[in-house]
Amino acid sequence: MPEIFGKPFVTQESVRTRILELGQQISQDYQGKDLVVIGVLKGAYVFFADLVRVIQLPVQIDFLIGTSTKKAGHSSKTVKVWSELTEKITKRHVLLVEDIVDSGLTAQVLESHLRKHNPESIEICTLLDKPANREVEIQPKYVGFEVPPIYIVGYGLDFEQKYRNLPYLAQMDQAKA
Ligand code: IMP
Repeated sequence: MPEIFGKPFVTQESVRTRILELGQQISQDYQGKDLVVIGVLKGAYVFFADLVRVIQLPVQIDFLIGTSTKKAGHSSKTVKVWSELTEKITKRHVLLVEDIVDSGLTAQVLESHLRKHNPESIEICTLLDKPANREVEIQPKYVGFEVPPIYIVGYGLDFEQKYRNLPYLAQMDQAKA
């Protein structure tokens, strides 16, 4: 993988340790409850796969594809949901798993999309949280790492659809891309 990233912003080992902690917390919180864990593609695919394997409950899994784009001349992003669930979530507990909550718009749109199915509860679990950029009121319950407003790639996060397979989190210097 390119040397442009230098030393990891968060190492693979630290990410794994933190995911284990999140898995333990989630397992405790949802003990005896009917939980569906929904991953947001593409960005959450690596985090999701690690997380569900350390949740010690018989969960069901599902995915949503959501994209957020910023149009030239517009200050806000437009969020689009590209897929439907295959599992029923009515009266069930839902954990929405994201790669990063930045402005919070993606999480907000996906949450209201899911609320139409009348779940018992919805919580958000995100690998990274960038609260400094928040534009809407979204508070993820489970956060891997709170990060400053810098651009991060790896562990599922991309820059122009690349670097998702970088096995650690790195700060992206867009000038060197
Ligand atoms: P939000 O809707 O502004 O919260 O943005 C969420 C989406 O923006 C994420 O799912 C990512 O696709 C993208 N994003 C925001 N910040 C970063 C970053 O630092 N690296 C990679 N993608 C990011």
